[in-house]
Amino acid sequence: MASKSLALLTRRHFSSIRPHIYPGTRLPHAKYGGRHTVTMLPGDGIGPEMMEHIKRIFSFAHFPVDFETVELNSKDLNATSLEFALMACERNGIAIKGNIETKFDHPDFISRNVEIRRRLDLYANILHCVSIPTVPTRHKGIDIVLIRENTEGREYSGLEHETIKGVIESIKLVTRRNIERIARYTFEFAAANNRKKVTAVHKANIQKLGDGLFLQVARDMAKAEYPYIEFEAMIVDNASMQLVSRPQQFDIMLMPNLYGNIISNIACGLVGGPGLVSGINVGDKYALFETGTRNTGTALAGKNVANPTAFIRAAVDMLRYLGLDADAHRLSDALFATLTEQCLHTADIGGSEKTSTLIDSIIDNLATTPKEAEAH
Ligand code: NAI
Repeated sequence: MASKSLALLTRRHFSSIRPHIYPGTRLPHAKYGGRHTVTMLPGDGIGPEMMEHIKRIFSFAHFPVDFETVELNSKDLNATSLEFALMACERNGIAIKGNIETKFDHPDFISRNVEIRRRLDLYANILHCVSIPTVPTRHKGIDIVLIRENTEGREYSGLEHETIKGVIESIKLVTRRNIERIARYTFEFAAANNRKKVTAVHKANIQKLGDGLFLQVARDMAKAEYPYIEFEAMIVDNASMQLVSRPQQFDIMLMPNLYGNIISNIACGLVGGPGLVSGINVGDKYALFETGTRNTGTALAGKNVANPTAFIRAAVDMLRYLGLDADAHRLSDALFATLTEQCLHTADIGGSEKTSTLIDSIIDNLATTPKEAEAH
């Protein structure tokens, strides 16, 4: 009995978060017979095949979503395709995306991923790292939401130059305005999702001005406006150590851009790796859904072995953002059953199943669940 209720609880936690949406935000409207149009950017590596799987699932389940696909990948160095992609994202207000490789050896190649998030002002990146019962991991019972500032901390945007030969200067630039909006987003998210504690991750002991401002803004806001949410601050080194030794202590982690990137990858690793976790990117106008760790999985492309879970959870997040809650629950439950009840696992989490076997199983599960699934 106890294990049955634990399984039910875990199923409800799985893919259950909802991005906080401020009142008055203009959400994408359904058009033509209640259907939504979502921009699809397949990207590089496993992205294109994962998008085909998502389209197949949506078509089978009759989810009321049409996809407008725009090719944008690292082979195409033409800036026009980036502009087309941005226009499509602005027009539809919402996108689902595979990751685009960033070329290390090409000094002029600006990361398309960073550019899209920056130009659409998608300032909040949200990952939900939650343990899945049948996935073998060192720690159990993890349920952490990671919220990362997604647009500044300019050391992340590649603002750097060689002052004299052999001397490189990288600039980290932060603003009170952007710190305030990510801090506010985090507390509002905590309140809306019934979360109890926010941990702000920083390095204010060394970066006294930049990280000092981050910490001060978060701390002051917590005290003045959100006294019912527990607030704590943790230096990034300690946060990394605490995360790998006792991850269950964390509820929501609020982070500047670069620490957020690294800590998010650690947290994804703790619950089973890059194939499992989705990543939500939201701003005041647009939303973009992708995988949490943002790698391309190029070595796996075309082999039918990649784990599709992270991409499917991105599709669940997207359905929920569109207000299609019953469809989101149905897909989330079908995926959860494939991973736990049918215990179908790809190689990255110790199994030997093909990607397509998981997709077929998800479709079978959708076929046997009622259309109006019980709301979580
Ligand atoms: P990668 O794409 O080689 O992936 C890292 C590891 O995770 C590999 O062993 C891969 O096989 C595995 N993996 C990834 N997705 C998987 C899935 N769905 N199922 C099973 N295994 C999976 O990562 P790498 O080398 O870090 O990045 C490749 C490209 O992605 C680079 O161009 C990089 O710039 C870009 N990128 C990576 C980010 C990251 O967080 N790692 C962030 C932003 C960009």
